[in-house]
Amino acid sequence: MTRYTATALAHPNIAFIKYWGNRDAALRLPVNGSISMNLEGLFTRTTVSFQPSLAFDELVINGREVTGPGLERVSGILEVVRQAAGIPFRAEVLSETNFPTGAGIASSASAFAALALAAVKAAGLSWSESAISRLARRGSGSACRSIPGGFVEWQMGAGDDDSFAVSIAPPSHWDLADCVAVVSSGHKATGSTEGHALAPTSPLQSARVADAPRRLEICRRAILERDFGSLSAIIELDSDMMHAVMMTGQPALFYWKPATLAVMEAVRAWRRDGLQAAYTVDAGPNVHVICPQSEMDAVTTLLREIPGVTQVLRATVGGPARLF
Ligand code: PMV
Repeated sequence: MTRYTATALAHPNIAFIKYWGNRDAALRLPVNGSISMNLEGLFTRTTVSFQPSLAFDELVINGREVTGPGLERVSGILEVVRQAAGIPFRAEVLSETNFPTGAGIASSASAFAALALAAVKAAGLSWSESAISRLARRGSGSACRSIPGGFVEWQMGAGDDDSFAVSIAPPSHWDLADCVAVVSSGHKATGSTEGHALAPTSPLQSARVADAPRRLEICRRAILERDFGSLSAIIELDSDMMHAVMMTGQPALFYWKPATLAVMEAVRAWRRDGLQAAYTVDAGPNVHVICPQSEMDAVTTLLREIPGVTQVLRATVGGPARLF
C-alpha cells in the first residue's frame, strides 16, 4: 500500500558567493550563480503526509500552525509535486528547526530543501538530485543549494530546467567551520524575497552581476585547492559588493549594526596577525566568520570579547539533504 508520507532532513547553508536578484521572481531564477557551504549540526526536519481526508494543506512549524503567505509558499511546492505525481490529496506538513530563527542563519534554505525532498518521496516520485534541487529553488532560491552535500554551486542556468545546485566537493574535502557572531536576534526588517526585487534599483547591481563569473571562478578554485588566503579575499569582497548594492538601492537596505562592522574590522585585524578567518554577512546584521576547524575555539573566544556580540553559533561542513 502506498503510504504517501516521508520525512527529510536538510541543513542550512552559508553563501560564499551570494545570490542577490532574480531574473524571474516566480521561478526564482537568479541573475548570477552562487557558491555555499552546508552547515552541519543545524537542520530542519520535515514530514509530509498526503492524506485523502484533508480539505486544505496544513503547516505546523515548531509546534505552531502557520497560515497565510507562509502556507501559500509551501502549498506552491506541494502543488508542483501533486501535478507531477497525479495525486489529488492535500498534505499535512510538520516541520522542526533546531536553530533559533533570527540568529543570522536563514531557515528558509533548510526548510524548503527538507520540504522538497520529503514531498517528492511522499508522492512516490523517483526524482534526481537536480530535479529536487530545482523544486527547492522555487520555495527559496538558496534552498536549492541545501540539496547536494558539502561545498555547493548553484549554476544559474538558462531557465527552469538547468538552474539547480551541484556539489563541487564533499564535506570531508576541507575542514572549515562557520562561527556566527550574533549581534541582534531581532527579525530582519526586509526579507530576502523583497530584497531580491530591489536589487535592480541599485546602479551597482549590474557591475556586481557582470563580475560574478570571475568571483565564482576564484571561489571554486580556492575551495578545490583549499587555499584559505584566496577564499578569504573573495568571500569578503563578494559580501561587501552585495551590501553595497543593498545600501544603494531604492529604498536602501542597511542590514549592518555598529557591532556588525566591529566584527568585520576585528576579523581583518586577526588575519593580519596570522589567524585564518574571513567574514561574510547575509541579509541581516549577524556576521558569519569562516575559519579552519582548528581555529574555531580561538575565533569563538575572540568573538565573545567584542561588545555587542550576544552569542556565537558554530557549525562544520554539512552533508546533503537526506531521508530520515
Ligand atoms: O534564498 P533567499 O531568497 O532567502 O535569498 C538568500 C540571499 C542571501 O542569503 C543574502 C544570499 C545567498 O546566496 O544565500
